[in-house]
Amino acid sequence: MPRYTLQVNGAARHIDADADTPLLYVLRDALALRGPKFGCGLGQCGACTVHLDGQAVRSCLLPVQAIGTQAITTLEGLGSAAQPGRVQQAFIDEQALQCGYCANGMIMVSAALLADTPRPSREQVQQALAGNLCRCGTYQRICQAVLRAAES
Ligand code: FES
Ligand code: FES
Repeated sequence: MPRYTLQVNGAARHIDADADTPLLYVLRDALALRGPKFGCGLGQCGACTVHLDGQAVRSCLLPVQAIGTQAITTLEGLGSAAQPGRVQQAFIDEQALQCGYCANGMIMVSAALLADTPRPSREQVQQALAGNLCRCGTYQRICQAVLRAAES
């Protein structure tokens, strides 16, 4: 089994995995980073989103061999329960979630959006999040949280 060195949340992590193992499995199972969630496993829901060199990508479809030296950031890299990042704090303040299963993807996509577009319009937020599914239907509050984060 090949060994890979991944740059995860600012640290080099060494893992042994088959080349086609999805990054999501490596993060959750080998590195115990449980921010990214398994939703559909088909690239259709966004629950597994991480950043790769700052871009939001779906880790369930990304084989570990394709990553190389690109910087991986997970939800844990944005903040912690004790010190939430600004997007995480805005989701808390707006009580944007119900079950919370979609939270990882919503927050990771929103953080990438705000890095590129610090003051997005409501339409830009809705467009950025259009591919992320929330089975609880809290889209309006999530959108409001992103706009709040942009102002903070
Ligand atoms: S679990 Fe990756 S997009 Fe649904
Ligand atoms: S809050 Fe339940 S899936 Fe979005």
